[in-house]
Amino acid sequence: MMGALGGSSLRVAVGVTGGIAAYKAVSVIRSLVLLGHHVDVIATGAALRFVGAPTFEAISGNPVRTDLYENVDTVQHVALGQSADVIAVVPATANTLAKLATGMADDLLTNTVLASLAPVVVAPAMHTEMWQNPATQANARRLDERGVTFVGPESGRLTGSDEGPGRLAEPEEIVNAIVSAARRGQRERLAAERGRDLVGHTVLVTAGGTREPIDPVRFLGNRSSGRQGVAIARKAAERGAEVTLVAANIEVPTPEDVRVVLVSSAEQMAAACAELAPRQDAIVMAAAVADYRPEHVQAGKIKKEATGDDLTLTFKKNPDILKNMVAARVPGQTIIGFAAETEEDDEARLELGRAKIRRKGCDFLVLNRVGWHHGFARDETAIQILDLDGHVVSEAVGDKMSVADSILDLVHEHE
Ligand code: C5P
Repeated sequence: MMGALGGSSLRVAVGVTGGIAAYKAVSVIRSLVLLGHHVDVIATGAALRFVGAPTFEAISGNPVRTDLYENVDTVQHVALGQSADVIAVVPATANTLAKLATGMADDLLTNTVLASLAPVVVAPAMHTEMWQNPATQANARRLDERGVTFVGPESGRLTGSDEGPGRLAEPEEIVNAIVSAARRGQRERLAAERGRDLVGHTVLVTAGGTREPIDPVRFLGNRSSGRQGVAIARKAAERGAEVTLVAANIEVPTPEDVRVVLVSSAEQMAAACAELAPRQDAIVMAAAVADYRPEHVQAGKIKKEATGDDLTLTFKKNPDILKNMVAARVPGQTIIGFAAETEEDDEARLELGRAKIRRKGCDFLVLNRVGWHHGFARDETAIQILDLDGHVVSEAVGDKMSVADSILDLVHEHE
């Protein structure tokens, strides 16, 4: 299973309707193809009076569809509508907006939109009077209320010498809107499919960064905010699991439907995990655990007057909680470790991950890049998940909540 969302190729149905701006649809189609997406052009009869089918076919690399009564045996509109990740109408004329708003279906494009559950993006283009006409405005409002994404129209020079609102949005803006609507649609579809697939599962998640005390007021810590671990706990609970979150110094609120055990140091986290682990179906170790702790915690505050110019602390190795969990694993338990690496080279980072999962012996390792400007305290993240053989079994890019879902998919699948 390769990453459900991260950068995968999309199937885009681009409807082109009959306006002068139809020639600009060619740039949109070309950009989508260059980004690696599959494009099916559905042109209305009027669109083909502005731009010929050979242009669309050459640019999209696919036959242009226009006639509802062609290839009737394959039920084209249903096939196109069901396979599309997104339907975009570029440009959308006042006539097509009116048909979409009322649910009319008198050509292949309007039939395809009606027969599809995919998100719809429209980029209107028409004369200012037509756009501002109360009938068009009411149709646009209706479509907007139904969740259709509008890009533009912009204000600017129109065909001829007139100016005003009604100009097609810039192709780049349209492409961005199409891709984000498709990704949003994919995420919503996956969420609906996932539903409450973790009902009956117990899941233990560690989050945050441990603090290793030096004296009563100082500690050795790290920059982990706990966002990723908390997102995993929240999503696991949403998907029906009974979740325990062992949280070390997290900076984000904890979910209400999750049992929270607060700890601070690695030793406290180790003790909490050891107690909880035997009852878990899955353990997700997202916390950043200090590898070492000061050997002696000073009873009173260390004074610079007493230590002079140099201060030497000696450290002791902390327990490797993840390794201990693997050693004490109960049958059927899925154990997922994390590796935050500063290595910039993708292949070298994967190699570090492969060596780490072999050392730890867990089922999966979530690998992400961290550094001064990556990973910590941010919401956007990019991960790769390795299995014990070192294969990348999943990749995800996005906010920490959607990445959490990709991680939990493995918990669901690995039973
Ligand atoms: O060894 P390293 O810190 O790179 O491994 C990271 C993974 O191991 C994380 O899942 C982390 O929660 C876990 N870990 C641990 N105990 C430690 C150090 C790391 O459980 N002492």
